[in-house]
Amino acid sequence: MADRRPLIAANWKMNKTIGEARSFCDELLPEVEDRGEEAAEVFICPPFLSLPLVAQLCAGTGIGVAGQNMYFEESGAFTGEVSAAMLLDAGATGVVLGHSERRQFFGETDEALARKVPVALDAGLLPILCVGESDEERERDETDQVLRRQVEAGLSGVPDDRLGGVVVAYEPIWAIGTGKTATAEQADDACGFIRSLVAARDTGAGELVRIQYGGSVKPANAEELLGQTEIDGALVGGAALDPEDFAAIVAAA
Ligand code: PGA
Repeated sequence: MADRRPLIAANWKMNKTIGEARSFCDELLPEVEDRGEEAAEVFICPPFLSLPLVAQLCAGTGIGVAGQNMYFEESGAFTGEVSAAMLLDAGATGVVLGHSERRQFFGETDEALARKVPVALDAGLLPILCVGESDEERERDETDQVLRRQVEAGLSGVPDDRLGGVVVAYEPIWAIGTGKTATAEQADDACGFIRSLVAARDTGAGELVRIQYGGSVKPANAEELLGQTEIDGALVGGAALDPEDFAAIVAAA
């Protein structure tokens, strides 16, 4: 089995001013920096405005910084959007794409993601493609169908030999910010299913692709979730706003 390095990412969503971002980094960095290649990889995903500062503070610590969204065009009349080149220029090395809040509240589509993921990869950004079913979809037993649609579409523009370089985050919508975590078994099953979808395109990529779980990950449940064979890390929202909690989750990995 491939040796996949776990990836723990802090998704701040629309939280923290520039000053608050600085305080967070001042507290977090001494706890998680320079842990070496053997330890889990750590990313912080701040809002665009604090991203350059966070990138500056994280420089040389081994901690990566990712945007929370990106547009697929290079530049032009796209008010409110940022490009891959802009993220890189600001110090990002990754980008979260297709978060369920973007899909739910801002009209993010599988079609747009099919273009965003390869653009991010080509630019040298690590794409973290988020997928996950709603409560109703799980109730109707449509989880696999939803995951298949989102994964196949989101990765459709990525050549087979580059699939292993993408990160997929399995985030069941019913578990996000609700305190209701998927059981380790549910999360492991869904991550395994996502891996099989990637493996169906390229066996080697199925082994390499890292699949995170996200949805109410806390210090108390991190170890069990991260101990599952198919789960290669966590995308953390609420608990990532507190440096102590986030450091505890990183330590659990
Ligand atoms: P949560 O958010 O940890 O607050 O549930 C996870 C996410 O949306 O990435």
